[in-house]
Amino acid sequence: MHNKQTKQYRQASLPTKQHECPQVWLTAYDAHTAMLAEAAGVDVILVGDSLGMVSLGFDSTIPVTLEHMIHHASAVVRGRQHAWVVCDLPFGSYQQSPEQAFASSAKVLQATGCDAVKIEGGQAMAETIRFLSERGVAVVAHIGLTPQSVKKLGGFKKQGLNEQAAERLLKDAASVSDAGAVAVVLECMPEALANEITQQLEIPTVGIGAGQGCDAQVLVWHDVLGLNASNPPFAPAYANLRQDMIHAIETWANDVRKRGVPCK
Ligand code: KIV
Repeated sequence: MHNKQTKQYRQASLPTKQHECPQVWLTAYDAHTAMLAEAAGVDVILVGDSLGMVSLGFDSTIPVTLEHMIHHASAVVRGRQHAWVVCDLPFGSYQQSPEQAFASSAKVLQATGCDAVKIEGGQAMAETIRFLSERGVAVVAHIGLTPQSVKKLGGFKKQGLNEQAAERLLKDAASVSDAGAVAVVLECMPEALANEITQQLEIPTVGIGAGQGCDAQVLVWHDVLGLNASNPPFAPAYANLRQDMIHAIETWANDVRKRGVPCK
C-alpha cells in the first residue's frame, strides 16, 4: 500500500539528440561537487574513472576498482536532485564477458542509485552492450581515446588520424549504437570525424576533444575549474581555482602563525 513514506520514483530522462543546443555533461566525484554541478545547470553528471587520476593519485585509470566507483558514485547520487548520473565501469570489471559486465552493472546500479553505466570500447564491446541493454541497463559507450587502453594505445593520443583508423571509429560508433547504447562518448578525435559520426547516429554523441558538433560536451571537473597544474590541450580552464585555493590556504596559514585569524 502507498503511504506518505513511499519514496517517489524519480523519472530519469535519457539524453537526446540536440540539433540546437548541446547538452552539458560534467564529471563529479562526491556529493558536494554534484550539488555544485546541478546548481550550475549541468544536465548529466558523469562519475568518471578519471577519479583515479584527479582524486586518488593514480597515473592512469587502470588501478580504479568497482569499489572505488561505487563509493564515489553513491556520494554523487546523494548530492544530486535531478541530473542524470552515469557511472563508469572500471578496467577489469566488464571486459571478460557480457555476464561479468551485467554483474558489475547490477552492483553499481543497486548500490549507488545511478542511472546508467559507461563502458569503453566499440565493436569489441557491442555484444556486451546488447546483453546489458536487453536486460534493462542503460549503457553509455565510449570510443576514440579510451583511457583504460592507454597502455595499448601508447599514450593519451588523438585517435582516428588516418583513413583506416577513421573508418574503424565509424564502425565502432555504428556497432555500439546498433547494440543499444543510449549515448556514445567520442574522445579526442578530429572534429570532422566526430561530426560525421554525430550525423550518422540516432543516439546522442558526447564530445571531449572532438570539436563543437556533438550533441553534448563533457569535461572533467578539475579541468574546467583549473584545479590542475596543467590541462590537456582540448580542455580549457574557466577558472584558476588551484591558485585561488593555494592563496586562501596560505593567507589563513599566515594568520594562524601570527595568531591573527579573524573570529567573532
Ligand atoms: O573518466 C572520465 O572522466 C571520462 C570522461 C573524460 C569522458 O570518461
